[in-house]
Amino acid sequence: MGRAPRAPISPLGPKPIRRARCQYTRSRGLHACARTPTNSNQRGGAGGMTSGSKSGVGGVAAARAAAAGPRTVLITGVSRGLGRALALELARRGHAVVGCGRSADPIRSLEAEIASPSRHFLTVADVRSDSSMAELAKAVVEKKQVPDIIVNNAGTINRNNKTWNVPAEEFDAVVDTNIKGTANVLRHFVPLMLQKKHGMIINLSSGWGRSSAAEVAPYCASKWAIEGLTRSLAKELPPGLAAIALSPGVVNTDMLASCFGTSSALYQSTEQWAPKAATMILSLSLEDNGASLTV
Ligand SMILES: NC(=O)c1ccc[n+]([C@@H]2O[C@H](COP(=O)([O-])OP(=O)(O)OC[C@H]3O[C@@H](n4cnc5c(N)ncnc54)[C@H](OP(=O)(O)O)[C@@H]3O)[C@@H](O)[C@H]2O)c1
Repeated sequence: MGRAPRAPISPLGPKPIRRARCQYTRSRGLHACARTPTNSNQRGGAGGMTSGSKSGVGGVAAARAAAAGPRTVLITGVSRGLGRALALELARRGHAVVGCGRSADPIRSLEAEIASPSRHFLTVADVRSDSSMAELAKAVVEKKQVPDIIVNNAGTINRNNKTWNVPAEEFDAVVDTNIKGTANVLRHFVPLMLQKKHGMIINLSSGWGRSSAAEVAPYCASKWAIEGLTRSLAKELPPGLAAIALSPGVVNTDMLASCFGTSSALYQSTEQWAPKAATMILSLSLEDNGASLTV
């Protein structure tokens, strides 16, 4: 791995970002129409798919995020990268984190670093395993930590390769983690949110879930799938629940280094990204159901 993209293609987003503040952008969906969410069909239908931008409302978003009471947030993939940084930021703001990842040592190290460790539930679990997600859901019920917000963040990317040269097991890993892993979480956690009659589901998408690039076809396919899955889910959810596809922008993580090589260092750090992402996530409303947003 390890070479920067050719051309000005923008992988997980456009170009090196040096933003002064978070830009909330809403992508135009396949069926852009007016945004008048009044019932579950409309909410999930065209509701979130309007174009436009929330740019300029950073102060409003920050105020809404700050005004929100403590939430319990499930984040998959907290052992490194975006998930870890988001977990630390949310905990710093007083929210409780339920987090998982496959590797035990990084989870222990997060436990040692996170604010108020006793408030959180960080554990080893693999989103590719349906039974593992069932166990996690059972555990959060027992611990009375049913999430108010789910961030389906765990993800993987294929090593840069032409589509026909991607080994079958690598293609499987991308699909099993990014698509089926998200579905495994939804299968066991949405029913818990339905019981509570509220919940925000945030599925991590990508610039490559709305565009394409050479040598990352499995990843692109998986993130386009996340966009479609999220829009369908949004149409199914009753009032009180919402689903959003969220592209995090371009951030210097192991995943970015996998496809960009050393150029990944040109992009924002996870520490720069996390406060913007946390504010945005905490300020999302039910009216955003079905939207495709970008940090
Ligand atoms: N970085 C970017 O610029 C960027 C851009 C667009 C979209 N995204 C999306 O943002 C999300 C996070 O990306 P990242 O850059 O932070 O990636 P990363 O640095 O590679 O981290 C991925 C995280 O997911 C976890 N994970 C992977 N497979 C898992 C599994 N089967 N079960 C549980 N956890 C699993 C990893 O932990 P373990 O290996 O310990 O399990 C790790 O904590 C992904 O969905 C990615 O597609 C990132």
